[in-house]
Amino acid sequence: MQTTTEHIQFRKVMGRFITGVTVVTARAGDEVHGMTCNAFCSISITPLTVMVSIAKNTRSERLIEKGGVFAVNILSETQSYLADRFAGRHKDKEGNRFEGFEWEPAVTGAPIFTGIQAYVDCKVMKAYDGGTHTLYLGKVVASHLDDSQHPLVFYKSRYVGLDSYKAS
Ligand SMILES: Cc1cc2nc3c(=O)[nH]c(=O)nc-3n(C[C@H](O)[C@H](O)[C@H](O)COP(=O)(O)O)c2cc1C
Repeated sequence: MQTTTEHIQFRKVMGRFITGVTVVTARAGDEVHGMTCNAFCSISITPLTVMVSIAKNTRSERLIEKGGVFAVNILSETQSYLADRFAGRHKDKEGNRFEGFEWEPAVTGAPIFTGIQAYVDCKVMKAYDGGTHTLYLGKVVASHLDDSQHPLVFYKSRYVGLDSYKAS
C-alpha cells in the first residue's frame, strides 16, 4: 500500500490521542503468538466485551481465527522492550517472540506475561471487517490487575512515562 500525505496526517492526528500499550496474545493448540496493539477498548458491560483491531493477513489474525481466543496484556512502564519485541522490532527473535519472557496460560490458554499491569482473557464473539484491519469483539472470561504497576503510555509514536501520576 502506498503511503500518501493523507495517511501521514492521519497517523499524526491519531498520535495525539494518548493510549496505553498492550500485547494481544493468541493460542491454538501448542501454537502461540502475539502482537503489540494500542487499538483496544472497552465495548460493553453486559456481556463484558472488549474490542481489538488487528491488521489483516498477519500471524496474529490467523492465530485468533484458528483458536477463537485472545488475551490483552496491558503493559507496565518497564515493558517497552516487550512492546518492541511484539511489534516485530527484534528481527532475530521473529521466529519466537516469546523467547526470554516469562508467561503463563490464561483460562483460554492465551499467554499472560509476568509483570504486566492487568489483563483480560477473551473468547471471540464476533469479527467485523475494518478495512485493512479486522475488529474482534471478545467476551471477557477472566481478568486480573496488579495495583503495584504503573502504565506504559504511547503518545506521538513514542513510549512515555506518567510522572505526574506517580507524584500524586
Ligand atoms: C505501540 C504500537 C501499537 C500498535 N498497535 C497495533 C494495533 O492496534 N493493531 C495492529 O494490527 N498492529 C499494531 N501495531 C503493529 C504490530 O504490533 C506489528 O505489525 C506486529 O509485527 C504484527 O505482528 P504479526 O504480523 O506477527 O501478527 C502496533 C505497533 C506498536 C509499536
